[in-house]
Amino acid sequence: MQRTSVVLGIETSCDETSAAVVDDGRLVRRCVIGSSKHTFVSSGGVIPEYAARQQVEAILPCVHEALTSAKVTAADLSLIAVTACPGLLGSLLVGTTTARVLSAVHAVPLIGVHHTLGHLSSTWLSDGPADDEPKFPILTLSVSGGHTDLWFRTSHTRGTLLGSTIDDAAGEAFDKGAALLGLGYPGGPLLAELAEKGDESFFAFPKPLSKDRTLDLSFSGLKTSLKYALRDLPAGTIDSGTIRADIAASYQYAIVHQLSDRIERALALHTDCKEVHVVGGVSANRRLRQEIDERAQKHAVRVRYPVALRYCTDNGAMIASAGYFLRQERPQSMSDRCETKATDDLRTLLAA
Ligand code: KG4
Ligand code: ZN
Repeated sequence: MQRTSVVLGIETSCDETSAAVVDDGRLVRRCVIGSSKHTFVSSGGVIPEYAARQQVEAILPCVHEALTSAKVTAADLSLIAVTACPGLLGSLLVGTTTARVLSAVHAVPLIGVHHTLGHLSSTWLSDGPADDEPKFPILTLSVSGGHTDLWFRTSHTRGTLLGSTIDDAAGEAFDKGAALLGLGYPGGPLLAELAEKGDESFFAFPKPLSKDRTLDLSFSGLKTSLKYALRDLPAGTIDSGTIRADIAASYQYAIVHQLSDRIERALALHTDCKEVHVVGGVSANRRLRQEIDERAQKHAVRVRYPVALRYCTDNGAMIASAGYFLRQERPQSMSDRCETKATDDLRTLLAA
């Protein structure tokens, strides 16, 4: 019988500190996620120096808890996978330094993982035994606070970038919209919650790049439209009735419409796609899921999201999974790569 590959995944690219133990790239034994986001509410965003300092404190207890509650020791590990790029440099260094030391002390192989490749693997994760393996080719929308990309993937480590945002990421549009509406940070979940009570046909936000056949996206104009829409409201109206919720719902719909529209355009071009996957923080959005499900149904294609909301946003389990598949598919080229970089081009990695 083949030995189970037990992988420790570490993710510290932004303000989360996460460590997870995953078997064979799929079964999550334990995923610990600590966030310091609540401390940033007043500043409206992440303060890099502050995030890294908190991660220095949090990382060893987090790894320790992941290992002990998964009932494994370092000696049981087959691999340590860590986010190497892109991200906040100080934060990345906390994760990669920890991973390097653990790897050297316990003689466990180490692999550096691109953060977005982690999100792309998050649809493989499960909390219990799962025999329903996703099938390539897969059209994947990876949509978070830092990126918005549409991929055509033929394996875990091969694929083509079909389209990408030309300015802000969709999560950034949620966060900036939430800030303009006077909500907290991170704005996505808060704006989504408010939007549930509103009428999304209340205000017609622009539909960028809608006349082209491009698979690229654009969100920065939406934020500007929202700013002017709020400025032009008669004084005091924002707090009357459901206006704030109506504007939130209309703004959310403009983001959702654009994302689901690009998926539909891509499905029309790539009829051999077996599945559509939607990953990253924004994939937690209920309205987005509803719209994408409806559109994919017309093309008779199955849609998958991460099985739990904690695997949509940043987490160590997706890094463990990506590291496992990376090592399997590219043992020579990738197995000892763990250079920390602020950015790296996943397109080049997946095309090679
Ligand atoms: O993937 P992620 O945790 O971090 C990055 O790699 O950026 O994504 C965070 C982003 C934030 O912009 C957050 O506002 C957004 O995901 N987000 C949501 C929802 N939950 C998180 N956006 C819309 N609706 C949600 N329910
Ligand atoms: Zn992310």
